[in-house]
Amino acid sequence: MAIETPIGFQRRSGELQADGVPLEEIARRYGTPTYVYSAALLEARLRALRSAFAALAPDICYAVKACANLSVLSLFARWGTGFDIVSAGELHRVLAAGGDPRRVVFAGVGKQRWELERAIDAGVGRFNAESAAELERLGAVARERGVVARVALRVNPDVDPRTHEYIRTGSKENKFGVDLDRAGEVIRAARAIEGIDLCGLHCHIGSQICEAEPYVGALRRIRAFFDDFGRAGFDHLDLGGGFGIDYGDGREMDFAVLASALQPELRAIGLPLVLEPGRSLVASAGILLTRVIEVKAGRDRSFLIVDAGMNDLLRPSLYKAAHRIEEVRPSGAPTHRGQVVGPICETGDFLCEARDLPLSPAGALLAVRDCGAYGFAMSSQYNARPRAAEVLVLEGRARLARRRESFDDLLRGELASDLLDG
Ligand code: LLP
Repeated sequence: MAIETPIGFQRRSGELQADGVPLEEIARRYGTPTYVYSAALLEARLRALRSAFAALAPDICYAVKACANLSVLSLFARWGTGFDIVSAGELHRVLAAGGDPRRVVFAGVGKQRWELERAIDAGVGRFNAESAAELERLGAVARERGVVARVALRVNPDVDPRTHEYIRTGSKENKFGVDLDRAGEVIRAARAIEGIDLCGLHCHIGSQICEAEPYVGALRRIRAFFDDFGRAGFDHLDLGGGFGIDYGDGREMDFAVLASALQPELRAIGLPLVLEPGRSLVASAGILLTRVIEVKAGRDRSFLIVDAGMNDLLRPSLYKAAHRIEEVRPSGAPTHRGQVVGPICETGDFLCEARDLPLSPAGALLAVRDCGAYGFAMSSQYNARPRAAEVLVLEGRARLARRRESFDDLLRGELASDLLDG
């Protein structure tokens, strides 16, 4: 009887593995801190989304910003997704990964003229415009190139997605999109601009949203818009992404619940659906491996000082995001009030706030869970720390997907003062 390889991050004989590969082995081979992704889990998440939404047959455009590693992008290309990008840099990555530019949607506030030019020259299939001024810019670039750009207008439906304030994007005080009350006027003006085909509506109300209700609320308002304005000339509705995952508190968006909650409004609207999921496809498929450097006793807690800091994983510092942190091999150390902190010179440098955890000894390997989204993607070289390695476990084998940066990488492109121009 064949032994089935467990998918994702699971324990065998107590030890945490990635698609059957021991994480200790990966840490020994590639060092720490290192991001590890499970290709099997990525694929399973995509399959789960597709099957929950099967009746609506959405065009799934993976949101590159969540995890832009080339190996991850090329897997999504192989699995037939499109891509949601927000910069010319992300376009560069998608093309390098073999993505089809016609399946790319270029979203994002503040696109510059040169970015629009690059996107049009590369043959990007669709744009999501955020303002009347952007539609003018896009039209001018398309006319110069003698093409017609397909574009959706991003509307702001003014709903409360009940998520962290920094990642709410669909309420009227946010910078995103055009107020639905003004959308008709902006669309009428856009349809008079040569070089663009205003053929869709787009909205993205926020991220880490765990309930269907805010999406349904947004759709109701969008349906009212269409009922009033008409559907002529529209060929798609892009609902964005934002589907929340379970970081350990049991709250998450259930794809099937969402799909069935959206169905009545979508049927009434009657346009093909586009989705731009990022986090929900990749977050649980990635972990951050880090080693304990030392344990330091504080007054009201112990500090587990580890070799990953806020430069490697910013989410806890920026959003107070709580990630589960586990020993890869149970050390048997006593549980105590402790905080996992990095080596960076700021009190805000922590991987978790104080909680009860085993006081793992120096050298112990820890796994910070659910770091596949907005983990490496938001990392930096702060404190002159080379960025971490990224490892992809594919078909049961760990492979280096991005080598750890070197000290030379830290200096690339810089000059000392005696070598400056002029
Ligand atoms: N589409 C648009 C237009 C977006 O702005 C975003 C995310 C997405 C799709 C994908 O959203 P997702 O499915 O990943 O929630 N750094 C934050 C999250 C920022 C999300 C920005 N926009 C975090 O670590 O929680």
